[in-house]
Amino acid sequence: MTTPRIEFELKPAARPLAAAEREAVLANPGFGRYFTDHMVTIQWTEGRGWHDAQLQPYAPLQMDPANMTLHYAQSIFEGLKAYRQPDDSVAVFRPDANARRFQRSARRLAMPELPVETFIEACDLLVRQDKEWVPSEGEASLYLRPFMFASEVGLGVRPADQYTFMVIASPAGSYFTGGVQPVSVWLSEEYVRASPGGTGEAKCAGNYAASLVAQAEAAAQGCDQVVWLDAVERRYIEEMGGMNLYFVYGEGENARIVTPELTGTLLPGITRDSLLRIAADMGYATEEARITTDEWRQGNADGSITEVFACGTAAVITPVGEAKSARGEWRVGDGGAGEITMKLREALLAVQTGQAEDAHGWMHPL
Ligand code: PLP
Ligand code: COI
Repeated sequence: MTTPRIEFELKPAARPLAAAEREAVLANPGFGRYFTDHMVTIQWTEGRGWHDAQLQPYAPLQMDPANMTLHYAQSIFEGLKAYRQPDDSVAVFRPDANARRFQRSARRLAMPELPVETFIEACDLLVRQDKEWVPSEGEASLYLRPFMFASEVGLGVRPADQYTFMVIASPAGSYFTGGVQPVSVWLSEEYVRASPGGTGEAKCAGNYAASLVAQAEAAAQGCDQVVWLDAVERRYIEEMGGMNLYFVYGEGENARIVTPELTGTLLPGITRDSLLRIAADMGYATEEARITTDEWRQGNADGSITEVFACGTAAVITPVGEAKSARGEWRVGDGGAGEITMKLREALLAVQTGQAEDAHGWMHPL
């Protein structure tokens, strides 16, 4: 049975933000601080399915205190970006991949799956309506945040029978305030992010709530970000708070580019996946493997690991300059941004901003 196409009701804002104010925001958007004029909402009800799809003015939600999400956290989200292209059009990077991951997250949280085409259409509608909000400078973009939460009211612990799907959008400059500066990381041995059988590979709100205490510990250790280790042996490197990790072994054309393999406890990042392919296109050997903290420390000491970087939608590619754990600290390479890290970063951004050929058909034009 094919899903009937959902019709969106369009209710544009009577008073969008004045152009001068919007331009002032776009001149220095930061990350996640400002939101565009509109949002998309779609409701789901048991027995009825998806209904009441609307594009409407961005506005606060009214919520019952017994809304199930507030108590039991049936809440998932996505993050993807729309980029201004050289001809002034706008294109979204791999929305189909985000739509499919959103479905997998929904399954894990016992929530209904939004059809891929509806997810993409909701993003397209919002970006089209708020096109003026897509920055045109450098690597700046419009960050899209699709999300879904339980909207049933009640305190019984079970999957809700009503959900709300939404998309909001926020102009994005650099995720880290320092721009492309190497970050320092704290290897968390006390706290774990995800254990086998848990929700580690779902993009659900609870994973982020559970990570905050470790992020605070990283900050107390003088580090920018936390690196998660596996929950069982606490020695395999998994990922960062909102990014996947890559390790560069060797130098130049002979470099090997390795990322922790997907074990079910880390998020299958779309940037991670894209870089595996871009790195291979550039002629590098790539590998998905398990890497221990000892291998990292040893690889830095003997020079076999030359660069480490983090990657994700919000932060693009960010070099890792220093690592620290309860058992010591070490500098990665010369502590600066590595050559291959920056080459990959440039290559990915060139595809996203339309400066390079889209060999894999990743850009979704509006
Ligand atoms: N890991 C976590 C925990 C994340 O929150 C993110 C961000 O979405 C990533 C990795 C990177 O994923 P993506 O490249 O799809 O943005
Ligand atoms: C993203 O890169 O989209 C993320 O989700 C990272 C963070 C903002 C949660």
